[in-house]
Amino acid sequence: MSNTDDLKESAARAALDLVKDGMRLGLGTGSTAARFVDALGARVKAGLNVVCVPTSETTRLQAERLRIPLTTLDETPELDLTVDGADEIDRELRLIKGGGGALLREKIVATASNRMVVIADESKVVPALGAFPLPVEVVRFGLLTTMHAIEAIAAEAGCRGAVTLRPGKGEAPFVTDQGNLVVDCAFGTIPEPEVLAFALKRVPGVVEHGLFLGLADLAIVAGGGGVKALRRPGA
Ligand code: A5P
Repeated sequence: MSNTDDLKESAARAALDLVKDGMRLGLGTGSTAARFVDALGARVKAGLNVVCVPTSETTRLQAERLRIPLTTLDETPELDLTVDGADEIDRELRLIKGGGGALLREKIVATASNRMVVIADESKVVPALGAFPLPVEVVRFGLLTTMHAIEAIAAEAGCRGAVTLRPGKGEAPFVTDQGNLVVDCAFGTIPEPEVLAFALKRVPGVVEHGLFLGLADLAIVAGGGGVKALRRPGA
């Protein structure tokens, strides 16, 4: 294995081994998750019976093209397994997610799942979270007030750095599937992710943040030495 695309493909294919007939699946978002969806589509075409909840409109369209049977959390509130990518993974399987802007649906779907498995190339495994700017989904109303509140409350949690509105196409900001905005928080190393996560939820304009804590049980990580399984300590 050499390039990142091959590694993403290897991780995605390894996760397919966890899928059993009859499962209710959450389908992640991003370039690694897209490879899993492609591989799942081939298995569905060959006769595998699953129902899936996509975590974004992009993934929904991909799954529809592949004729993967879809459901919603309203119809199927509990899922067996969600397979998704990540922007950063630490040794406790705490994650930063949301680089693709789908963090809200991703977190709702992961939380509804009995098991969340992360698939990634080895570049995503980090000693400490935070080099990747933390995405935070916010409502449009009071944007500047919310951004200042995030800065202030993050500083109390030991995190300082630029909080910037994510740009979209042209002059417009990036808009999530839920019609919200995303701010990216360049805090650098996050000393205590649990403390920051708790603090961010206290800001009224924050809808959700990209810290996924205690959600992933297993990370399937592909690197030059092959595919490795990392388990959450105590999971
Ligand atoms: C989408 O919002 C993100 O959480 C993705 O799962 C994350 O950005 C990983 O994406 P890649 O697999 O494309 O790196």
